[in-house]
Amino acid sequence: MRGGTVVDSTGLRRGDVLVEDGRIVAVGEGIAYPLGTTVLEASGCIVAPGLVDIHTHLREPGGEAAETVETGTRAAALGGYTAVVAMPNTDPATDSAAAVRYVQELARGACADVAVAGAITIGRAGREVVPLAEMTALGVRLFTDDGSGVQDGDVLRRALEAAGPLGVVLAEHCQDDTLTAGGLMHDGAWSRRFGIPGQPAAAEEAMLARDLALVRRTGAPMHFLHVSTAGSVELVRAAKAAGLPVTAEATPHHLVLTDASAASGDPLFKVAPPLRSASDGAALRAACRQGLIDAIATDHAPHTAERKKAPFADAPPGMIGLETALALVWDAFVAGPGEDAPLGLVELFAMVSWRPAALAGLDWDHGHGGPIAPGGHAHLCVFDPTEAWTVDRRATASRSQNSPYDGMRLSGRVRHTVLAGDPVVVDGRAQR
Ligand code: DOR
Repeated sequence: MRGGTVVDSTGLRRGDVLVEDGRIVAVGEGIAYPLGTTVLEASGCIVAPGLVDIHTHLREPGGEAAETVETGTRAAALGGYTAVVAMPNTDPATDSAAAVRYVQELARGACADVAVAGAITIGRAGREVVPLAEMTALGVRLFTDDGSGVQDGDVLRRALEAAGPLGVVLAEHCQDDTLTAGGLMHDGAWSRRFGIPGQPAAAEEAMLARDLALVRRTGAPMHFLHVSTAGSVELVRAAKAAGLPVTAEATPHHLVLTDASAASGDPLFKVAPPLRSASDGAALRAACRQGLIDAIATDHAPHTAERKKAPFADAPPGMIGLETALALVWDAFVAGPGEDAPLGLVELFAMVSWRPAALAGLDWDHGHGGPIAPGGHAHLCVFDPTEAWTVDRRATASRSQNSPYDGMRLSGRVRHTVLAGDPVVVDGRAQR
């Protein structure tokens, strides 16, 4: 890798990165490349550890019409990701050791490393806790019923009591179904203007508050998926201040889009949790700047054109996001007309690389998240902050095209992605 600014958890420096046999062997200015070395041009670019997405729906098994491990990881690589966590709301759900093994097998040779998340309850039905120990033995570190929250508090308590001693993390999609029933979009000024039934912020906050009480009681760690309201941010802030073992993620779409888009009635803007108000978005961005949000996670949720062209009320929630995430957060926090000074590169890449890597246990198992130093695993993302581009949702490597950013102008783009020393994306083109 020639030129560029290297960024990792230890800071910034200019320099080349030399890779051999999947490992970084030298970092510095003016490296002499051995004969026959493939040299990737990175001048003017940021060279960061490969990005890590802790919230990706790869849809296999059961949803292959929308995505496969192969197509989803190719989209991930194009977005700069070298590792993703595959969500377990597949069909059947990833709720057994056999199901975990099945996805792990599918992921061999994929364009990104895949860590498999397990469900918390059998069939994600919210009643019986999965065999946590057996699944943990296969390397599962995160368990979630994502797509829905665990509605029964006592089931979650039991799962936390079993998870704590195993050293694994339960991740919650906070949504009290009794409070969202019938709601189509965020309950706020826009839903009221159009008379559309809403899903209140309280549906997320009530479950989050309950979960925090259970974390306090059991001492087991929890991760909160796609936190989307100002109230949730305050709950997480108070929990962290009290020393509870909790982490939280935000999605690019909750950071940059609002319920005004959902009010258009276009199902591309239907997502769970729903797009919230402008002030919720501002609170999330402030929380990212303050280091309160541990990870920015895509919640890449592919759905076929067939299903997404249903009327808003019937269309499934979800949007793809792997290929646009880094450029969106770059514009939101660094290059765009933000409300504050640009966020530092270390702080920005922390949220998309090494903090999520640590959360998913991908740092020490597979060396994701850096640092970029001799001996480290060569998982790299090269981002060109000067390559402006316009999102074309039909041009995605994902099998689904449900991006809400079609036609949006973004100011930077992923140029190369290196997975274990192998250039899987070169000059914006997938190599596998
Ligand atoms: O919008 C969403 N779509 N939110 C989720 O939590 C699940 C996801 C999906 O699987 O489609």
